[in-house]
Amino acid sequence: MGCHVVDHPLIREKLTTLRDARTPLRGFRAALHELSLLIGYEALRTLGEEPLAVTTPLRECAGSRVRDPIYLMPILRAGLGMAEALAELLPDAPVGHIGMFRDEVTLEPQPYYLRVPPDVARANVVCVDPMLATGNSAVSAIDQLKKCGAQRLRLVCIVGCPEGVARMTAAHPDVPIFLAAIDDGLNERGYIVPGLGDAGDRYYGTAPA
Ligand code: URA
Repeated sequence: MGCHVVDHPLIREKLTTLRDARTPLRGFRAALHELSLLIGYEALRTLGEEPLAVTTPLRECAGSRVRDPIYLMPILRAGLGMAEALAELLPDAPVGHIGMFRDEVTLEPQPYYLRVPPDVARANVVCVDPMLATGNSAVSAIDQLKKCGAQRLRLVCIVGCPEGVARMTAAHPDVPIFLAAIDDGLNERGYIVPGLGDAGDRYYGTAPA
């Protein structure tokens, strides 16, 4: 369990691209996709496996397959980009959605949509959201998923901060967190500093000019 900062030169380089305010839309999207794959790959390292014999052109040999299904659960809107990237790696993974917007005054998440694939109790659920800021959205998302029966959960983010990590690990110590960096903290508007700005706006090209 716990919080894992995935440490790799490629991750640091791609995160630098994401942070750079001059990175254009297409570069931001590409870097977010690549980071999602690299961090997601590490987050799935502990998946349970079962043996599967396979016959090569030469002879039979021992193989393996992942034991239980993997479900992707993006937190809307910014988590969608991460889920799209991971769905390329996991083409059989159902994708649910959790919609929450942030009340800009209280910074509390306001849930407005929840769709969870069936039989969630036996799945490896990967909840994705690029920014672990206050931790309120992540905690609420995991609360909602557990209420639906999810038992085996992972949270995959790109950037976090000490406040978000502390809030998430206190509320859900059983849910491991994977990310590329833990930044200095939050500003008065609840943005991660130095962070990368509003991940959803930058991914969708909707940042105010
Ligand atoms: N959401 C974002 O997109 N960026 C932050 O820094 C915090 C929350």
